[in-house]
Amino acid sequence: MFFIGDHKYRNQGAQPLTDSVYSKGRWMLNFKAGSLFPRTNMTNFTKLDDFLTRNRQQHLEQLFELLRIPSISADSTKSSDMDRAAHWVADRFRDAGLKTELIPGDGPALVYAETDPVPGKPVVLVYGHYDVQPADPIDLWKSPPFAPEIRDGNIYARGSTDDKGQMLTHVLSVLAWKACGEKLPLQVKFLIEGQEEQGSEVLEAKLPEIAKRLACDVIVISDSSQYAKGQPAITYGLRGIAYFELRVHGPKMDLHSGSFGGAVTNPALALARILTEIKTADGRIQLPGFYDSVVELEPSEREMWQSLGFSDDRFAESLGVDALTGESGYTTLERRWARPTFDVHGLLGGYQGEGGKTVIPSWNGAKISFRLVPNQDPKTVGEQLRRFIAEHTPPGVRVEVIDLHGGRGVVVNPDSKYMKGAVEAVEEGFGVKPVLIREGGSIPIVAQMVDALECDVLLIGWGLDDDGAHSPNEKFCLEDFYRGIRASSRLWHHLAR
Ligand code: BES
Ligand code: MN
Ligand code: MN
Repeated sequence: MFFIGDHKYRNQGAQPLTDSVYSKGRWMLNFKAGSLFPRTNMTNFTKLDDFLTRNRQQHLEQLFELLRIPSISADSTKSSDMDRAAHWVADRFRDAGLKTELIPGDGPALVYAETDPVPGKPVVLVYGHYDVQPADPIDLWKSPPFAPEIRDGNIYARGSTDDKGQMLTHVLSVLAWKACGEKLPLQVKFLIEGQEEQGSEVLEAKLPEIAKRLACDVIVISDSSQYAKGQPAITYGLRGIAYFELRVHGPKMDLHSGSFGGAVTNPALALARILTEIKTADGRIQLPGFYDSVVELEPSEREMWQSLGFSDDRFAESLGVDALTGESGYTTLERRWARPTFDVHGLLGGYQGEGGKTVIPSWNGAKISFRLVPNQDPKTVGEQLRRFIAEHTPPGVRVEVIDLHGGRGVVVNPDSKYMKGAVEAVEEGFGVKPVLIREGGSIPIVAQMVDALECDVLLIGWGLDDDGAHSPNEKFCLEDFYRGIRASSRLWHHLAR
């Protein structure tokens, strides 16, 4: 069993644990009690480390270049920027002499590149995404979202943490090996897509066709977070997602609510009823059969997370809420990382303008999603939702359910032979032993890739929960960018052993 704090790299860049919501308690990596991770001989890396130190400014400038491209996959007017971003990534690979390909599809292109094969050694596939979420609400940004800026040690820009900054750490580390004239100890393949934030349709469609090219032993993804500032983590689970739009259709036109109110079903009210019936106040989802395939938490997992010393009070305070709510019988971390939930993301239709307007809207809608856990299937949830809605639709309205996207959750095999190398690389990059966590976010294509390629997966995120991913003023800690590059540069070595 390992305890944080007894390692020799502590002073090489790792920041002390702050008194954050995540701190206190004992930090341990006990997924395999008794196993020892021998430290590498650091001197092998002097040349690489020197190169990384000398090129910090150059690496930052590269990230800034990519961050300046507004590659918003949700915005159909941005398709030339999607193209520019794809080409920018491909050009980095080409400049470094990697075999590189832009794979076109019905949407943003996939960028594929590979280093030379190394017989007898594992093949690694790095997955990441060059697309970003929309930047609105723009007026809440302190600096423009696509004009990256450093403030108090953070890189502020849309995509800085999700996922351009994190993804680039692996690109830059492979380029560093090459620039140093070092032969990579294993083959690294890259698949960088431009539609992750919209459900990865292009990749999903192309997967059967390109699976042979992608063949690998392990997928490496940096598109998630550390446990806390100064406490890196290896993530061994992600939630899945099933995303829908509901449209409740009422009268064929907006009606004067004085003349007609009381005589027809108001679509907004019908929608509100349906939405509140889906989840009870104590967090239980009411779709019949919804929990049938849910894998319950292991007592050992619950124990391990308990030891992380998470503070509900500080968490609530950091979010500006006066209470935390959710499914009863589970802690906050359990609810966020390993329990399914239901959320409403936006309400559509009706009068949204200035002042008052007395209408019964002709229609109202909602964007909704379920976060799923192993072994829930988004298709099954869709069927359960349709059945539930059919039974809960009041007379006088019709409800349309539109599938937006979905993906299954992921659990990583903690006994995977690649886990040990990841732990070592992260420790050497960040100066602190990583803890094992799960996370609540989703990378919808991962489960399908793992199935199609029959490989392991490593989720090693360099972000922080307070990075503001998908929010205004998204940031990525500058030092974590450099630590991520260093960890990545070590990863190739450790995975090859
Ligand atoms: N990088 C995130 C996924 C993530 C977030 C992993 C937090 C771990 C912690 C990814 O870019 C993302 O935002 N995914 C979406 C998927 C959706 C748009 C299909 C998500 O989780 O909402
Ligand atoms: Mn992401
Ligand atoms: Mn995202």
